[in-house]
Amino acid sequence: MGGGRDVPCRRVLVTGASGRLGAGMLEQANLAGLSAHGWQGPAGRADPALRPVDLTDLNAIDQALALDDPGIVIHAAAVSTAEAVLRDPVHARRVNVEATARIAAWCVRERRRLVFTSTDLVFDGSRAFSREEDEPCPLLEYGRTKRAAELELAGNPGCVVVRIALLYGPAPNGRPGFFDTSIAALRRGAAKSFFVDEYRTPLDYRSAARGVLAIACSDHDGVFHLGGPERLSRFELMRRAAAVLGIDARLVLGNALSSMTFPEPRPADVSLDCTRLATLFPEVVRPTVEDALRDG
Ligand SMILES: NC(=O)c1ccc[n+]([C@@H]2O[C@H](COP(=O)([O-])OP(=O)(O)OC[C@H]3O[C@@H](n4cnc5c(N)ncnc54)[C@H](OP(=O)(O)O)[C@@H]3O)[C@@H](O)[C@H]2O)c1
Repeated sequence: MGGGRDVPCRRVLVTGASGRLGAGMLEQANLAGLSAHGWQGPAGRADPALRPVDLTDLNAIDQALALDDPGIVIHAAAVSTAEAVLRDPVHARRVNVEATARIAAWCVRERRRLVFTSTDLVFDGSRAFSREEDEPCPLLEYGRTKRAAELELAGNPGCVVVRIALLYGPAPNGRPGFFDTSIAALRRGAAKSFFVDEYRTPLDYRSAARGVLAIACSDHDGVFHLGGPERLSRFELMRRAAAVLGIDARLVLGNALSSMTFPEPRPADVSLDCTRLATLFPEVVRPTVEDALRDG
């Protein structure tokens, strides 16, 4: 790991290591022979090897950081869905913004590297293939919390924001997400509808985990976009996933985002331009849906 760069990969802490992406990163870090450990949420129900840290307790964050003394922090813990953020926006701000600010303050003070996992949903969806320098303008409260957190890191040396696209594939932590539940329903023969007019650049969990780790173990700062190689609607993603998994693709139906009402406006196209990542990290593979699921 490290892509030939001269910054040594030090002890890595993954927050949110009981989550889908976090579990994948811990797994990939261990496979790469890094010294890595993780935090989980306050319930501590997932894994006795993970340290339970409640991110709403700012003093607990400081104490756990001092105990673990990581060289690199990959901050993947979050209230991670638009629905959960809307259910309790005050709690979501505490976890997504205030805790991130506290972790960033510690990393800057102690001169440690910090990689923050942000989202494509910081963009308003009005244009395809957003670049790192394009102005974020989130429509969803979830995206607003992630953008506010990004600004807590901005301009600090050693701090990196990785804006990650929609992730798919079997959940690395075994807790089913939208992909697992959709595939399970399709396997049972139930037809399911997916938006034909909401575009992302989806990437599988394992490749995303590898990509974030490569960035973490480098000396590159600033903002990176990390997504898959193609701009796809959810309908196209699931139709192709069904086909490669041997599921009758005719069960995958299309419906229009634009014909439905939601509690918040949904961005239509948050596809990401990943040129910076592809240029600086040519070793990071971003497979097609077929390659990701066939290999997995
Ligand atoms: N999945 C995607 O498609 C996607 C796309 C773009 C960006 N991202 C970003 O990637 C990161 C990981 O997403 P994910 O899908 O892996 O999320 P996830 O599966 O929902 O995991 C969230 C993690 O955050 C932890 N967490 C939540 N509240 C906490 C609290 N109060 N204190 C401590 N830990 C807490 C959870 O711990 P417990 O479960 O143990 O409580 C869990 O480990 C997030 O920053 C998300 O915004 C995800």
